[in-house]
Amino acid sequence: MTETVAFPQDRTCPYHPPTAYDPLREARPLSRVSLYDGRSVWVVTGHGTARDLLTDPRLSSDRTRPAFPMPTERFASARDRRVALLGLDDPAHHTQRRMLVPSFTLKRIGTLRPRIQETVDRLLDVMEAKGPPAELVGDFALPVPSMVICALLGVPYADHEFFEEQSRRLLRGPAAADTQDARDQLDAYFGSLIDRKQKDPGDGLLDELIQDRLREGAVDREEVISLATILLVAGHETTANMISLGTFTLLRHPEQLAELRAEPTLMPAAVEELLRFLSIADGLLRVATEDIEVAGATIRADDGVVFSTSVINRDEHTFPEPDALDWHRPARHHVAFGFGIHQCLGQNLARAEMEIALLSLFDRLPGLRLDAPADDIPFKPGDTIQGMLELPVTW
Ligand code: HEM
Repeated sequence: MTETVAFPQDRTCPYHPPTAYDPLREARPLSRVSLYDGRSVWVVTGHGTARDLLTDPRLSSDRTRPAFPMPTERFASARDRRVALLGLDDPAHHTQRRMLVPSFTLKRIGTLRPRIQETVDRLLDVMEAKGPPAELVGDFALPVPSMVICALLGVPYADHEFFEEQSRRLLRGPAAADTQDARDQLDAYFGSLIDRKQKDPGDGLLDELIQDRLREGAVDREEVISLATILLVAGHETTANMISLGTFTLLRHPEQLAELRAEPTLMPAAVEELLRFLSIADGLLRVATEDIEVAGATIRADDGVVFSTSVINRDEHTFPEPDALDWHRPARHHVAFGFGIHQCLGQNLARAEMEIALLSLFDRLPGLRLDAPADDIPFKPGDTIQGMLELPVTW
């Protein structure tokens, strides 16, 4: 019986799905879980079923629908706020996405690689000059993507303490009021940034949106604010967690780390496998707009559906020996970036950042190791993006 499994739950080990989800793994591809408010919803746990449903237009991402499932009180408190891209269905979603896709193609991100490398090198210079030891989240994992997304968007990095703090409160503030206040603060921040950029344009993606789209009325101001918020928040929090948790995981898997050090060309495959293995965005949300027959069950209109990416990415039918970290498996068809129309817009950027950051870190600091017992190092709770809260290291 899986009726009573609560979702989401904290991980027991930062790089494995919560052991409390074991019954869900046994009940693949679909079962039921209960949310914080007592509501029972579907949870998708099978890889094939997940890919079918994530491309099914009868599942909506519109969180303003009354039946949309809310995983936490914090999330529920933002129900009526406009969320660009992620909170829209086609065709409105497609219109927004089409404006942004050219800035995130593999080719365009390729041109950013030298700049990402420079950023990584500079941060490692500072870390080496200051340490050992170091706190890897604050000294490296967070500033790398934060600096890169600022440059891409045209947001001043000088404001990073402000927006990193607001992102933290938005994604895992202690109370719903924090989430709301963080949103208000980010709205006000981007509102005044737009005013400044209208008078004195720069050369970032936000400047392009303002000059090319806002001025001609293709988007409104509120939409630019909402796009800026999602790009900035999704652009730094997620990758930062992959770098911190990826480093922790590599340090806990010395054989795989040694193999990677001996053969650095394995890095792109390693990044893909780490994405699958860690599944840091665990709990994609949808609501059914019509009845859907799937895997011998009927998802009814207005039923909530959550996708547990950590369980889906450990489906042994698709990934044999799923709990092993293996650079040689084909991992690319994982759903760590989602699937279908909402599949991560920033995935090429995230991959480039992870490859460069992890390669350079282990190359520059061959003696890198944890500076505290692994069990004492705090990681993030289950109701947010997974990652390390702190990562004390030495070398
Ligand atoms: C390793 C890091 C990252 C992970 C694991 C990740 C994960 C995801 C996932 C799972 C989704 C789909 C959510 C859903 O279907 O409900 C998504 C969407 C999105 N991600 Fe990422 N992401 C990462 C990095 C980034 C970066 C660097 C950006 C930079 C701009 C970004 C921007 C977005 C946007 C804008 C969407 C919404 C796309 C849409 O709705 O069309 N992400 N991401």
